[in-house]
Amino acid sequence: MGYIKCAALEETGYVVLDQYDQAKDPKEWLDIEYVDWKSSGETRFAPLASAKGEIEVNGFWNHQPPRTDKDGVWIPSQVEKAPNLVRRAQEPGANVGRCRVIELQPNNYADALYNLHQDDNNRLNPDGTGWIVRGFFNLTNDDTSYFVLRDNQTDPSVEYRLALPAGAQLIVDTQRIWHATCLNSPQPRYCLITSWESGPELDAYIAKYNGKSRVPNVEVSQDILDAGQEEQSRRLAARAAYYAAKGQAEKAAMSEA
Ligand SMILES: [Fe+2]
Repeated sequence: MGYIKCAALEETGYVVLDQYDQAKDPKEWLDIEYVDWKSSGETRFAPLASAKGEIEVNGFWNHQPPRTDKDGVWIPSQVEKAPNLVRRAQEPGANVGRCRVIELQPNNYADALYNLHQDDNNRLNPDGTGWIVRGFFNLTNDDTSYFVLRDNQTDPSVEYRLALPAGAQLIVDTQRIWHATCLNSPQPRYCLITSWESGPELDAYIAKYNGKSRVPNVEVSQDILDAGQEEQSRRLAARAAYYAAKGQAEKAAMSEA
């Protein structure tokens, strides 16, 4: 049968919506409660909706009973402090799974390439229902920073670099597209990330805010691109060697046991 997907995301795996006037809202992300949770880079998260309405950010499939990234339970103490963020996450009217603010510490382009990953939003998602994609609403003004998207983790031939000023609004098929943020800022970045179910509601929302599946890439010098690619290769090889050695050691320990 297959999943219901948004046609707007088919070409590149992302859309950029009209920019939101972030300056008119209070900085609610400074008032909510964060938990330490290592993601791609140095991060903390403040959940607004979680598996059971508790302040924790684990994947819904790691709870009992395991389930996919839908039907997130709003957390009253957080919702109370962040009504504008909740309003924006609910505006499309699509089913919301995990909804949280990420705090990311500064890094560089090579770090972003090393941090590239695909999400696992559709684990346990029943066939024939809507594919889970993610909204990214940038809250802080990181105008020297950008989201890096690739079709393939290690192949630079398809790479989108999307600007992240305050109010930037992106929707990305994060299970299909490799993604990470390059944060050339002295300050941490805050961004609202919402898991939405694809379907007519999300299609209408993307159309309402003029979703564009191609925008100009943030310009980065060829020297930085080349050095980042080289560093990514070096770090991925080092990581593979580490795990290979660890695997060998574990195998040896098991055969001794
Ligand atoms: Fe991700």
